[in-house]
Amino acid sequence: MNETHWQERLVRLAAAGLERRMRVVEGAVGPIVATPDGDKLLFCSNDYLGLAAHPALRSALCEGASRWGAGAAASRLVSGNTGAHDRLEKRLASFMGAPRAVLFPSGYQANVGALTALTDAGDAIFSDALAHASIVDGCRLARAEVHVFRHRDAAHLGGLLAACRAPGMRLVVTDAVFSMDGDVAPLAEIADAAEEHGALVYVDEAHALGVMGPGGRGLTASVGLADRIAVRMGTLGKSLGLAGAFVALGENAADLLLSRARSLLYTTAAPAALAEAALAAVDLVEAGDDLRAALARNVDLFRALAAKSHLPVLDSTTAIQPVMVGDAAKAARVSRDLWNAGVFVQAMRPPTVPEGTSRLRVTLTASHAPGHIEALVDALARALRGPEGKA
Ligand SMILES: Cc1ncc(COP(=O)(O)O)c(C=O)c1O
Repeated sequence: MNETHWQERLVRLAAAGLERRMRVVEGAVGPIVATPDGDKLLFCSNDYLGLAAHPALRSALCEGASRWGAGAAASRLVSGNTGAHDRLEKRLASFMGAPRAVLFPSGYQANVGALTALTDAGDAIFSDALAHASIVDGCRLARAEVHVFRHRDAAHLGGLLAACRAPGMRLVVTDAVFSMDGDVAPLAEIADAAEEHGALVYVDEAHALGVMGPGGRGLTASVGLADRIAVRMGTLGKSLGLAGAFVALGENAADLLLSRARSLLYTTAAPAALAEAALAAVDLVEAGDDLRAALARNVDLFRALAAKSHLPVLDSTTAIQPVMVGDAAKAARVSRDLWNAGVFVQAMRPPTVPEGTSRLRVTLTASHAPGHIEALVDALARALRGPEGKA
């Protein structure tokens, strides 16, 4: 087999410090994970509330598999839709205070499916410059025209909306908490700008669900805007500790997804056992004020220790605490040094982040202990100084 083309591309990636390799984990997710290289302190999962290995979710998954079997065996629109999926959709809709919720097998599929199904040629989508890749790809696949507004800049959004001549509907899309920077969208200003120009708003709550708002209902709920946001996407694979996603929205928009969202129609349903576990996860999240408080304490501790050690952290108050490096190859080197020191933090490099802004994406969870965070900051300070003791 001739692989020359692909080999050349890989060599170019490696030369730019952009080659990627997967790490292997050999046990349940927690503050410490087993790996073939020994135990590592884990600081790059999205398990913000520490639910991924929770006993209630493990047993819901096992009991679900006993009742429903392992796989759904078809798309939900064929025969893969079970009572468990239906109950979960109803629970998520009432939890989010929305008329309906529609489940997808992943957040990536939810964004791609919803953005393409809810817009048409003649419409216009307005997306934040640092929107998640799944939003970017949804915009690329949509037939609507796409406008990108400067990151968190509602005034720029307003200008683009005012100048837009598309004859159809306008949809503004933003992450609630940005996955690589950990900063928060100015939702009230975005909603104001959108309403002034007759646009609807779509918020990706992936990193806000579970950790923000009353009962973990997300950023929109925390700023009291649920009535003004037409579409909210939430993931089950982050704070809820499982996998999958949902879109919370109105009756007509939900029915449109069932008829048009290709990433829902043309993919196998998630197992019913997962839906059973997600029902248990929503209960834990709703009752999880103590977990949210523990997470907030851990974020505060990390930020205090990082400031003391002069780590180049961004100005984020969320569980996502990027430590900036700049150069992609250096970020990969720092991540390797951390691994060798027993700390698992991934480097984020282009195209995941803009050129020249490679970073270590540190994430904190409710289940980290203060000692874990002290060890992290210590290891970060040493790894950033490098083998010669200089940055
Ligand atoms: C903001 C954002 N949206 C969507 C997704 C995709 O979610 P999932 O991992 O369930 O596909 C992610 C996570 O990767 C994310 O960070």
